[in-house]
Amino acid sequence: MNISKKLMLFAFLCAQTHLLSFLFPDAVEFRLSPNFATQVMDAISQGGDTFNKTMDGFFQQLNVSLPKAHEGIVSFGKSIGSAITPAAHVIVSSSGAITGIVAAGVISTYIAHKYTTRYMFEPSLIEKSSKNSFLSYLNRYYYRTSAPVNICEHMVINQDLKNKLEYVIQMTKNIKLHGGQFDNVLLYGAPGTGKTLFAELLAQHCGMDYAIIPAANISQFLTKGTVVEELNNLFDWAAKSDRGTILFLDEAEVFLADRKTLDNIAQNALSSFLSKTGTPSNKIMIICTTNRPEILDPAVISRLGIHIEFKLPDLDARVAQIKMHTSKIFAQQTGTVVDFEYLKDEQNILALAKRLDGFSGRMIQKCINSFRQCALAQNILKIDASIVEQVIQQLHENINN
Ligand SMILES: Nc1ncnc2c1ncn2[C@@H]1O[C@H](COP(=O)(O)OP(=O)(O)OP(=O)(O)O)[C@@H](O)[C@H]1O
Ligand SMILES: [Mg+2]
Repeated sequence: MNISKKLMLFAFLCAQTHLLSFLFPDAVEFRLSPNFATQVMDAISQGGDTFNKTMDGFFQQLNVSLPKAHEGIVSFGKSIGSAITPAAHVIVSSSGAITGIVAAGVISTYIAHKYTTRYMFEPSLIEKSSKNSFLSYLNRYYYRTSAPVNICEHMVINQDLKNKLEYVIQMTKNIKLHGGQFDNVLLYGAPGTGKTLFAELLAQHCGMDYAIIPAANISQFLTKGTVVEELNNLFDWAAKSDRGTILFLDEAEVFLADRKTLDNIAQNALSSFLSKTGTPSNKIMIICTTNRPEILDPAVISRLGIHIEFKLPDLDARVAQIKMHTSKIFAQQTGTVVDFEYLKDEQNILALAKRLDGFSGRMIQKCINSFRQCALAQNILKIDASIVEQVIQQLHENINN
């Protein structure tokens, strides 16, 4: 984060802590020590590294105290609520004001925590993480639960996948209950067969924290030459979670391929990864996905205990996917509505599934989407055999070219 962003964030946090210390004079978490304010003024005048270090110290302090502060405000709100219940007839209006104040406290603390976490502490390699949404924030600090995602509602999975999924879920539950070490997972198979989708859903389902690290982010730091440092940050960050963290490395071959094929920087990244994953962990579970498992370094493969292959869907799976994508794309149409009675007929679905032999989930989804686009483009607004034929022919031509 550059200096001007830090200054803006600092000003925002000062205003926020000032407001909270005014509203909740007994809550020590909100007070900035006068010494600290002087240190910051000195640091601003000195600029450069001193400034950066002082600001980082400040953000570190807040990152520890804000979650506690959030809980403080919530319990403060609850105790006020129970105290005013007997006298509710007198203070209906003031309870509204108190609710407003408590809400303001919760929201501003949430924003402050989110910004310190997001900008100061979340490693740059991460694209998306469970620690970065309002709902997960509420789950972690307020409800302390997380509802498992039903994977079968979001994708079609075969019995083999279901069994392995059950195994991974049971493993994470046992480790939480009895302690132990995670097994790491390799998802491999043809493009568009649902590896990334599955890994994201699995991470959400297990009730652990998770972070998604796309290949593009790794490549960016490989180019800059700072990927080892970034990997260190990532593993340190992941080890801090009290729920355990799933690190999901998408298209892992970018830096986990056989070392003979990697340049020096990628080899260093690989060595760093290997040194951090040499012994099984009770904090971090790794999920890697790849289209090309055969090019991964043997030492990487040996660290990934569970291997799950994603195959192209068979006829039954294609039927199920056509139904799933039709209901997502057509049943929830916004704007112009296209009639899709044709795609509800079992015979038509079966015929279509037979025509899509060799198609991946991604291509099936694209095909269903194209039916709607094609109908809209021709202003027919109704799916029929002719639209289906045109789209399938076009897709087959694309594949052959
Ligand atoms: N089994 C499936 N059930 C339902 N939809 C699927 C399935 N597999 C793939 N899809 C659809 O295809 C899209 C792309 O899938 P995803 O990105 O997970 O593929 P992938 O295997 O990671 O591909 P790649 O190897 O190219 O990264 C999904 O968002 C989903 O819409
Ligand atoms: Mg993918």
